[in-house]
Amino acid sequence: MEKHNFVTIADLTKEEILYLIEMGQEFEKHPNREILKGKVVATLFFEPSTRTRLSFETAANRLGAKVIGFSDAKASSVTKGETLKDTILMVSNYADVIAMRHYIEGAAQYASEVAPVPVVNAGDGAHMHPSQCLLDLYSIYKTQGTLENLNIYLVGDLRYGRTVHSLITAMRHFNPTFHFIAPPELAMPKEYKIYCNEHHIHYVEHEDFNEDVIADADILYMTRVQKERFSDLMEYERVKNVYILRNDMLGKARPNMKIMHPLPRVNEIAFDVDNNPHAYYIQQAKNGLFAREAIFCYCLGITLDDVKADKTIID
Ligand code: CP
Repeated sequence: MEKHNFVTIADLTKEEILYLIEMGQEFEKHPNREILKGKVVATLFFEPSTRTRLSFETAANRLGAKVIGFSDAKASSVTKGETLKDTILMVSNYADVIAMRHYIEGAAQYASEVAPVPVVNAGDGAHMHPSQCLLDLYSIYKTQGTLENLNIYLVGDLRYGRTVHSLITAMRHFNPTFHFIAPPELAMPKEYKIYCNEHHIHYVEHEDFNEDVIADADILYMTRVQKERFSDLMEYERVKNVYILRNDMLGKARPNMKIMHPLPRVNEIAFDVDNNPHAYYIQQAKNGLFAREAIFCYCLGITLDDVKADKTIID
């Protein structure tokens, strides 16, 4: 079987993205199977996580694999000085695929070059979060019926938010119009604006966040201000509550508009939004299970045809 790493969404073609979404749809129909029976999945989390780690582990468990790993590197031999290279080589002795979150940008790429088994990037610093991106694409496709020609509003911490960086990269295939809503301190980094220009992605920058600005959004993608990435906590204190979405700001929203958020939220979405039909962030996180089932299969060389023909479904 051919093995694939899943380190950056930029590696994927349009056809591969749509293929993985279709595979995720198969898993949404039947999430419980034994298609990975006999496999071992390792989850190595050098940074905190709730959704990503638990949904990767749930994906493995629901597909019949066994799971090893750590949720806190302090409980590993990293504390004794073991290098990332040696850690990855050791875990490769035990597991068929590694899902890793690390605070250093590029750590997953490095691990994928060292490891004899496929590596999934579960987030590397402020850089990329490709499995989140696939579940975001899955959620957009599921709610809009297409990925093409959408107005996507990215709001909040566009400087450190790795999910929005990944989303821009993936959406280059689908002719989006992006609206970047951020204060100057959290503005979209120049490199991603250059990326947009190079790939003919239309974008508009705003500092105001109100119901008129977001009225033509198809997707309103809120983000948390990433406290853990700030070297100056005074700066964090100045911007932490810069934008808060409230229910009374949604009166002019398009009927199809969905509010997404990679979560966790702090206070950028008021609780009174949760029962609004535009709110989609809880279902979005659920879609992570189906997307991550597809990612493990993709990494292990299991094809869409294999999944469609799978006879190990447990209903
Ligand atoms: N969206 C996301 O990455 O959440 P966690 O940090 O809880 O994994």
